[in-house]
This record gives sequence, structure tokens and C-alpha cells, in this order.
Amino acid sequence: MKSNELLKQSIKFLKSYSKETPELDSKMILGFVLDLKNKIYLHDDVNVSEKKLIKFKKLLNLRANGKPVSRIIGKKYFWKDVFNINDWTLDPRPDSEILIEEVLLYYHNKEKNFKILDLGCGSGCLGLSLLGEFPNAMLIGVDQCKKALAQAKKNSKELFCNHRSNFLNVNWFNKNWTKDILQNSNFKTKFDIIICNPPYIKKKQINNLQEEVKYFDPVLALDGGKDGCDSYRAILNKVSHLISNEGIIAIEISDEILLKVKNIILKQGLNVKKIVQDYSGNNRVLIIK
Ligand SMILES: C[S@@+](CC[C@H](N)C(=O)[O-])C[C@H]1O[C@@H](n2cnc3c(N)ncnc32)[C@H](O)[C@@H]1O
Repeated sequence: MKSNELLKQSIKFLKSYSKETPELDSKMILGFVLDLKNKIYLHDDVNVSEKKLIKFKKLLNLRANGKPVSRIIGKKYFWKDVFNINDWTLDPRPDSEILIEEVLLYYHNKEKNFKILDLGCGSGCLGLSLLGEFPNAMLIGVDQCKKALAQAKKNSKELFCNHRSNFLNVNWFNKNWTKDILQNSNFKTKFDIIICNPPYIKKKQINNLQEEVKYFDPVLALDGGKDGCDSYRAILNKVSHLISNEGIIAIEISDEILLKVKNIILKQGLNVKKIVQDYSGNNRVLIIK
């Protein structure tokens, strides 16, 4: 079958399931099936073999039934790169790119040998994106989930950053978690940049999330405990052991938890330097000193 005809049919099919972006979804899935690496299928009218047709239809059905395209193709574009994702990593969100934008505003000399810590690194999208911007920086990524760490390591290798990054299995609810990081990082000084997107959904609200999130993102990446702030309390309680005097912490938040997180920050003797909104006008990032 010819690919253009196949696309026409599949767009109509996804529209009938009320998908919002049927054309883009179809093209991304077809690009994946045709093994176009990280490219989206564009316009060449090529022959699609019977075997690839079967695979395409199977994947299109998954999309029709709600699976996000990124989960189907196992990849997500974030900042300037493509990140492999798996069932244990959060699907990187465009809103989290604000964290990167904000860190870049603080450091004009990109050549410095910054030490960066990505807390709850998941796929590694935040820390590795910063390594892409700061060519002499070093990264430690930590996560409680070993299978997420494996994916972050794979991404770091594909982005040619494995000589500048190290990934550690750390749980910030453990007593000595900051010591674990400092002892294993081999850095003689503390971190210049800490970037973090912790889980912040209230436990009770997880069931009310949209299906693409609730069924496909890992609970560990979402569950912020009763008031959504459990991870902020654990992290901010000890983050001063990790951050250098001149360093900044860029942490993701939501409107709902902003006030509580601000109180946690003040209680720890830290200061909120800036509150940043995302492109929809929601509070999204705190810069802490
Ligand atoms: C919201 S996700 C963010 C993932 C990635 N940084 C991103 O922005 O796409 C939160 C991450 O924190 C990790 N995490 C959750 N609880 C943790 C804990 N107690 N200690 C360390 N990591 C934890 C999860 O496994 C998950 O990868």
C-alpha cells in the first residue's frame, strides 16, 4: 500500500476517535514504523510492506485507545533533543522546559565547569538538556527508580554525554540521602545548579487525572503524597547540604502547591528569588537561593 493513502485513512480513523492531532499522530507513528529514526514522516509517497502495514495498524489502534504517541514510539522531543522513554519514566512535558530557560538566564558564561544535580531525573531530560547548553559542565542525576536511571544512562550515551554524567540510585526519603550523593559524586565542591521536577500531584487526585497521564505515566513520578508536597519537604529540608553558596535551585511547582512550597522554603531559611509562569500563565517554576 502507498503511504499517502494509508495516512489519509489513518487520519480519518483517529478523527473518529476524537483525537486532537490525528495528522501529526499518524505521521509520527508512520515515521517510527518506517524506521525514519527521529524524523516524522513527511510527504514521500513510499510503498509500505504488508509487515509494516500490520505493525502500523496495531500501533494506530493503541493510539485510538488512548496510548500517547510518545509511549507508542518510546521517544519524546524535549528542549533540543529526543529522549528515549520507558514505562518507568515520566513523559517529559513542554512546561518543564521553563526550568531550562530559567537556569540559562542566570548563567551567561556557558563555558564554566558547572556541577549540576538533577533530582528525580527520570529520562534525564532536564540535566542532559543543561549539559547540551553548558559544554564543560558535569551532571549527577539521581532517581529512586533503577529502571528510569537505566533509561537516563542510555539517553546520556546517545547524546554523547556519558563522560560528563553519572546516575545514582537515591531515595530522598532516606535519612542520609545527601551524603549518598556527595560521597558518590567525586566532586570536591557542592553543586552550582540543582534542577528538580518532583512528584507533586495529591494522592487523592491521581485518579482524576486525564487517562493519558493516569494510565501511562508511572505513579512514582506523580504521587506527591496527601498534600502534594511530600517530596518538597524531604528535598528542601536537606538541600542546603548540596548547593554551593552562589548556586541556584530551579524546582517545578503547580499553582495548587505554590503557597505550601513557599512556606517550606522559608522554614528552611532559603529564599524564593523568582516565581515563573508557563506559557498558559500557570505558576510553574521557583528559583530558590
Ligand atoms: C515528575 S518526575 C520528573 C522526571 C524528569 N525529571 C522530568 O522532568 O521529566 C519525578 C521523578 O522523581 C522520581 N522520584 C520519585 N520519588 C523519589 C524519591 N523518593 N527519591 C528519588 N527520586 C524519586 C521518580 O521516579 C521520577 O523519575
